[in-house]
Amino acid sequence: MTYGFDAPIDRRGTDCIKFDRPELRGRASDLLSYWVADMDFATSPEVVEAICKRAQHGIFGYTDPGPDYYASIDDWCSRRYGWHVPADQVVATPGVVYALAAAVRAFTAPGDAVVIQQPVYYPFSSVVEGNGRKLVVTQLAFDGERYSIDFEELERAIADNNAQLLLLCNPHNPVGRAWSALELGRIADICARHGVIVVSDEIHMDFARPGHEHVPFARISGESGCTYIAAISASKTFNLAGLQTANVVIPDEGLKDVYRATMLASGYSQPNVLGAIATQAAYEYGEPWLSALKDYLEGNWKLLGDMLAARTPELKLIEAESTYLAWIDCRALGYDAKALERFIEDEAGLWLDCGGIFGAGGDGFVRINIATQRAYLERGIDQLCSAAGRALARLK
Ligand SMILES: Cc1ncc(COP(=O)(O)O)c(C=O)c1O
Repeated sequence: MTYGFDAPIDRRGTDCIKFDRPELRGRASDLLSYWVADMDFATSPEVVEAICKRAQHGIFGYTDPGPDYYASIDDWCSRRYGWHVPADQVVATPGVVYALAAAVRAFTAPGDAVVIQQPVYYPFSSVVEGNGRKLVVTQLAFDGERYSIDFEELERAIADNNAQLLLLCNPHNPVGRAWSALELGRIADICARHGVIVVSDEIHMDFARPGHEHVPFARISGESGCTYIAAISASKTFNLAGLQTANVVIPDEGLKDVYRATMLASGYSQPNVLGAIATQAAYEYGEPWLSALKDYLEGNWKLLGDMLAARTPELKLIEAESTYLAWIDCRALGYDAKALERFIEDEAGLWLDCGGIFGAGGDGFVRINIATQRAYLERGIDQLCSAAGRALARLK
């Protein structure tokens, strides 16, 4: 079956934040947009069908997903990742960022230290600081090509601050690492030694690229005795972010009770009915679509890599192991954070996430969401390369 990923779909007028009302986010209306992490593709036909069928019923009252919902999550994680997820460990939440924030509130007290590894998806810092906890930033090590974890620095940051929680991005947005079992094992050992709970955000787990694999934190935590929770969702994988549905896996009964109590205190009880229907259909029937999507994305990765290498090799694409987010080192342009933002918008005519918002180590980089029609991606890369070519010529 072909899914027509090349066919443009006009998202304007759907109130999507990627294209509609850019002025609300301080952007000009004529920019090509590659910022927020959702896709310009229709989700799998089976998901659309399941939503339509449920919508026909006409009543959308309070709903608790049943055993089939939980079985679909377990099947997906077991089959693809060797990760058995029993139903009684799963708590549905209205999104992964909500899940992270709830973990911060549930497992730490105001003033407690929470560690993150920057550059990282920006809500990691806001859910810590916004809840009055102490943000402890460690920076990923970068050798110019690849990111890794400075385990000594991580342990020092945890010990010096008596940290209670680590927010782990696995795989890592924006740097694209799919952490290995070895790396996750070392994190688990450190956190077990210091009594730190790991909150593993695995929302991008289904995008491991050829030659790489997603290792669920759950699979390696056992030996170390490290306590963890993991947040997953079909939202990135199947382009369902607007349905605001995620699942948190919490093996420890006590932690689960505290987590549930925190959710109730925030006023949340049952999940969005259409989000649950879509999640289940995606996990039950969506695998062929996902497989085709990932093939298509590989073509986009190749296009991006080839165009940058041919036209502006000074801009270095960091080899992503997962996600559909390209992280590009633009430091050769010599701009500071503000100037790079102006360059991207005014000279390249693009709406991207510039690296500074991802925190320490982000300045001088840009993130491009490649999950779009290839022709649209090509236009954006062309504009980036042309503008970069002019900027580099000015430097000479
Ligand atoms: C690492 C990571 N976590 C969470 C989210 C958002 O999750 P949600 O929309 O379920 O809150 C994103 C979206 O880009 C992400 O990259």
